Amino acid sequence: MNRKHDYIAVFDSGVGGISVLRHLLRYLPGERYLYFGDSVNAPYGSRTTEEVRQLTLAAAEKLTTEYDIKALVIACNTATAAAVNEIRETYPDLIVIGIEPALKVGADRFPGGCIGVMATEVTLRENKFDTLLHRFEDDCTIAKIPAPGLVQRIEAGDTDGPETENLLRTILADHVGKLDALVLGCTHYPFAAKAISRILGDNVRLLDGGDGTARETKRRLEEACLLEAGDGEVTIINSAGNPEMLRISRELLYQER
Ligand code: DGL
Repeated sequence: MNRKHDYIAVFDSGVGGISVLRHLLRYLPGERYLYFGDSVNAPYGSRTTEEVRQLTLAAAEKLTTEYDIKALVIACNTATAAAVNEIRETYPDLIVIGIEPALKVGADRFPGGCIGVMATEVTLRENKFDTLLHRFEDDCTIAKIPAPGLVQRIEAGDTDGPETENLLRTILADHVGKLDALVLGCTHYPFAAKAISRILGDNVRLLDGGDGTARETKRRLEEACLLEAGDGEVTIINSAGNPEMLRISRELLYQER
């Protein structure tokens, strides 16, 4: 039976989901959060869908058996695309929230505009994304932008250094001057927002699904009468098991934007 003071578990392939946790803390500051980053297996985005499915199910199993949790936020677009339906079926009594690229927000704000969606290979090739694309392709021009190597830079804690900026210049080279908005369809990418804006220009809006995911989490907990108004608490665990990953996670959680 779920109780108010049980954890909200937040899961990602690594440190990326911390960008979602930041939104959660704004909307729900009194909750107890358990953040689990699976950095030892990151990046998920270049794996097979079956591998991502198995890793995501294993993470859900760990979080539900080792901790008392009242909700699971899959703060990873890649894991959501590969496994959210199965997780919902496996844990029918658990509140499960996934994340998807914020294309709807882009299409609503820029009708007739040109919107880039930067995401992992898995996210861009899954059926879930095709369905999303078909919903909005008549309203705007959509460019799919894979970003190989970017997750590794963020996992190393390099969100704004020269190596990350050079990589982004290559990834975005064909899109400079062409976009109205860029959807950051991987939860790692918002941490590189400064470098992205330097390349695309401040007039290109950067959109991510973190805000919507946090609002949906609040709505679902409210509906289930499971909102907690405590002191707020964040526990971070990481499969890599080294202090460096925990240091990077905390730095990303509390850094100024
Ligand atoms: N942060 C994950 C996402 O939102 C993916 C990162 C990875 O490739 O592991 O898609």
